[in-house]
Amino acid sequence: MAVNAKTAGAAADRPKELSLADFYNLPDPDLFAKTRAFADFIETQKKAGHYAVRRLLLTSCRNRVVILDQFTGKPREMIMMASNNYLGLTTHPKVVAAGLAAYSKWGAGAGSVPLLAGTLELHRELEQKLAAFKGSEDAIIFPAGYSSNVGIIAGLAREGDIIFNDMLNHASIVDGSRLSGAEVKTFPHKNLEGLDRALARLSSKYNGKLVIVDGVFSMDGDIAPVPQMLEICRRHGARLMIDEAHATGVIGEHGHGTPEHHHIEGQVDIVAGTLSKALGGVGGFAAASRDVVEYLRFYSRSYMFSTALPPAVTASLIAGLEVIDSEPQLLASLWDNIRYFRKGLVDLGFDIGLSETAIFPIIIGDDWKVKEMTRLLHQEAVFVNAVFYPAVARRMSRIRLSLMATHTREDLDQTLAACARAGKKLGVIQ
Ligand SMILES: Cc1ncc(COP(=O)(O)O)c(C=O)c1O
Repeated sequence: MAVNAKTAGAAADRPKELSLADFYNLPDPDLFAKTRAFADFIETQKKAGHYAVRRLLLTSCRNRVVILDQFTGKPREMIMMASNNYLGLTTHPKVVAAGLAAYSKWGAGAGSVPLLAGTLELHRELEQKLAAFKGSEDAIIFPAGYSSNVGIIAGLAREGDIIFNDMLNHASIVDGSRLSGAEVKTFPHKNLEGLDRALARLSSKYNGKLVIVDGVFSMDGDIAPVPQMLEICRRHGARLMIDEAHATGVIGEHGHGTPEHHHIEGQVDIVAGTLSKALGGVGGFAAASRDVVEYLRFYSRSYMFSTALPPAVTASLIAGLEVIDSEPQLLASLWDNIRYFRKGLVDLGFDIGLSETAIFPIIIGDDWKVKEMTRLLHQEAVFVNAVFYPAVARRMSRIRLSLMATHTREDLDQTLAACARAGKKLGVIQ
């Protein structure tokens, strides 16, 4: 489909953009029928230059990367505005050196699930460092952030219990809640009155009550009002769990996350998170009381039945936690970049929603324009993510950019200039 800059933005003569939701269930005697329909859809996306996923990286994840350009088949340098590598730790010399040393000493894998023969001294050290970092009694580590959320929630909540989820909680929280067998209710985004009312109405009908909220929301970059939620939970006898995936290493004076940001460290019942974003590796964790952590070791199936993290990753994560504490300039650079970039986007007139951290949505709402903007930015060597329903609500599709401490002013200026050109061409901004 040729793109005419003059007509770009005129939605009337465009067919409705299909989304993943349209191929979720196409009832047919052949289970694979939907995969053929989906393959046709992907083909149309590729022809339109709208297939911007799985771009092949030829270099490590830094502020600038080289990709194998899907349009030209040639290597191409791009500004990376789509990673969760907030502090640049994936390639930090100390983090890499710790991993290499552990590889030599411990070999490639842990060799077993943690409860049986897979707990290395390194794993215990990481758990203890995480507990100290989060101000909790103990911590448990999982193979991924996804499996930690699923394991924590399904490990603790049962039929007869009730879970209250913010409507913008991450998919892993939704999946863990469903798997638990507990009743699941969703409250409007950060709506304290709604949560309070729901707890007042339902608490007495259920046994255990668990409220779950992202500390920093992954698609909007806003921060949860955790102190107020904690107060509501305490009043109704509910436990509070927060997911610190995008908060750890990003917010709080020392980058310790949402409780530090709100000056309530050590008070949230379960602090969960990933080790894959600012910490630069892979894995997930829960920091909580000794009793809760010990219980999870025996009842979180994604912990019990999954091999422990590789030693090299574990050693790198330990080094990453140390770097966050010993090199505060990384956090300072990230926040300098956040302030500069936010002002740039706002001055240009983009709608960045509720963003207040390193995640910047450019909310557009028209799926075709989002795809076109992603394509135009790709042409300008800026690597961004496009996000559509069902990852966000209908008519809230967006470009999602995320900042790193290692972005230079030149990276940010070039990105802002490219966004301005693409945004104007598509009528997203004036
Ligand atoms: C809020 C949130 N929680 C959990 C996860 C899952 O983490 P991981 O990628 O480490 O499995 C992610 C990201 O992917 C996330 O954004």
